[in-house]
Amino acid sequence: GTWATKSPLKFTPIKSVEATKDTFTVPKGFRWDPIIRWGDPLFKNSPAFDPTKPNAKAQALQFGYNNDYLDIIVTNRAGTEALLVCNHEYTNRAIMFPPSASDADELEVLRTLKAAHGMAVVELKRRRRGGKWTYVQGARHNRRITADTPFRFDGPAAGSKFLKTKADKDGVLALGTFGNCAGGTTPWGTVLSGEENFNGYFKADPNARGSKRYGLTDADSSYGWEKVDPRFDATKDGYQNEPNRFGWIVEIDPTDPKSTPVKHTAMGRMKHEGANIRVDSDGTVVAYMGDDERFDYLYKFVAKNKYRKGDSRAARKHNLKLLSEGDLFVAKFTGEMQEDNANLGSGTWIPLTKNGKSAVKGFSHEEVLVFTREAADAVKATPMDRCEDVEPSLKTGKVYVACTNNTNRGADGKPGPDAANPVKGNKNGHIIEITERRNQADATRFEWNLFMVCGDNGEAGTYFAGWDGPVAPISCPDNVAFDSAGNLWISTDGQPGTISKNDGLFRVPVAGKERGHLVQFLAVPVEAETCGPVVHDKDGSVFVAVQHPGEDGTWEEQHSYFPDYLSKAGKPVKGNWRGPRPSVVQVTRK
Ligand code: FEO
Ligand code: CA
Ligand code: CA
Ligand code: CA
Repeated sequence: GTWATKSPLKFTPIKSVEATKDTFTVPKGFRWDPIIRWGDPLFKNSPAFDPTKPNAKAQALQFGYNNDYLDIIVTNRAGTEALLVCNHEYTNRAIMFPPSASDADELEVLRTLKAAHGMAVVELKRRRRGGKWTYVQGARHNRRITADTPFRFDGPAAGSKFLKTKADKDGVLALGTFGNCAGGTTPWGTVLSGEENFNGYFKADPNARGSKRYGLTDADSSYGWEKVDPRFDATKDGYQNEPNRFGWIVEIDPTDPKSTPVKHTAMGRMKHEGANIRVDSDGTVVAYMGDDERFDYLYKFVAKNKYRKGDSRAARKHNLKLLSEGDLFVAKFTGEMQEDNANLGSGTWIPLTKNGKSAVKGFSHEEVLVFTREAADAVKATPMDRCEDVEPSLKTGKVYVACTNNTNRGADGKPGPDAANPVKGNKNGHIIEITERRNQADATRFEWNLFMVCGDNGEAGTYFAGWDGPVAPISCPDNVAFDSAGNLWISTDGQPGTISKNDGLFRVPVAGKERGHLVQFLAVPVEAETCGPVVHDKDGSVFVAVQHPGEDGTWEEQHSYFPDYLSKAGKPVKGNWRGPRPSVVQVTRK
């Protein structure tokens, strides 16, 4: 059998859905149910959802907005208890609150938006394996992390002069996380999350170190938080370094709601999409990471210490420090263009640090870690078409790099197409498959090939790992995951703008006779991005986080009513809310 048929999750693929449809579409014989939605109460004392009265305190006790990275971590043998962990990347204020709320108290609106960011940990339960999950209000592990939650810096740049502010003179404790996009769950049970578009939250001195390269300007920030919290105006005395305290990989321990989450300086600072861990057969630990910006880079972190098996206290304590010490590398690709885009080549992981010291001329170790983009520029890494999720297959060790798109590829004064980023004006994106030399996670050389060049059905230049049958149209690959048989699942972000289809979730075998045979599993509602995804195929479930449904609407003219929808008479089916709510959805067989 092929890899696709080895997965216990069988389904009849759906057809792609037109980009105007406000529907959640699943294969025949399947159903979808929201597990938790923006505003749902998490704690015993959480107020009920009421967007007509923005309230920061209430929001900090409720599920946040725009869920992106998602995992569902089953925690008992019976398979009836789990922890849901997810990111709340950003907010869409125009569709969240009535304009009258801003007239009444604009500052409370801003504080509420701030509290809608961050992350959430939520306990789930169900009656039996294979069943529907529900969340437990007031459960012991429930937690909201917001833009104000204390985080500890660790690693070589903790305490650096670049991280010190008037409020944190030692440069060791940052408040909050935001812009958290994708992430990864570690083999030791923690969750990593990437702080991505942090620059949009600051007003900053454009001449400060790093401002230009990280997109920081002195314009009012797009989120306006400087009006309610002075540290977001980094032009002010004592706060110049505040933006340096964001753009990190953070690690949270969902099993310990009292733990202080960590920002890992050893893993470098960029617009981190996320991080995914591979542990080699000898215990070597590496993390793959993308910097999601046009012409930015692909990175690998190699931990100094080896993974310890088991969940003894000693092993856990050891593993919780694995990402605190190690070396950082950036990718350089060389290769050949082929006529059908079956490009391949080799590459090098160029060291940015070596044995805990700077490996870049003119940069101190701290400078490499805080201004990582500048260090990577200096060693001439390969500018990529926006690396989103980068995930190793735990079955084969091969690494899949989702390059979502880059419409500036080959534009005037910009880098032109190369073997690893072959499409001029790349609007649909592509996926690169990397094989480390001798399949060792910490190799400094690798081979690569293009796995997929995305696009509409049959469009010139599309390539599906050599598969020559029909495939589902796909554009803008973003978050990825694997099922138990090793098939790659790809979620998309941006199809409405490129191929006029709603974003969706796709499955493709990476080996066997059906390698490259891409099919579509689901489609999310109008203007939404498909995030997560989590595939529990042995359990008959697929989970997605539906992010920014109806994001181009306004309060008066909502584009989406997902997930509660309206009755035929145009009345809300549940409660009295008329608008979309980003939600985590479980898809199961009927
Ligand atoms: Fe938040 Fe790179 O997508
Ligand atoms: Ca996103
Ligand atoms: Ca993303
Ligand atoms: Ca994206």
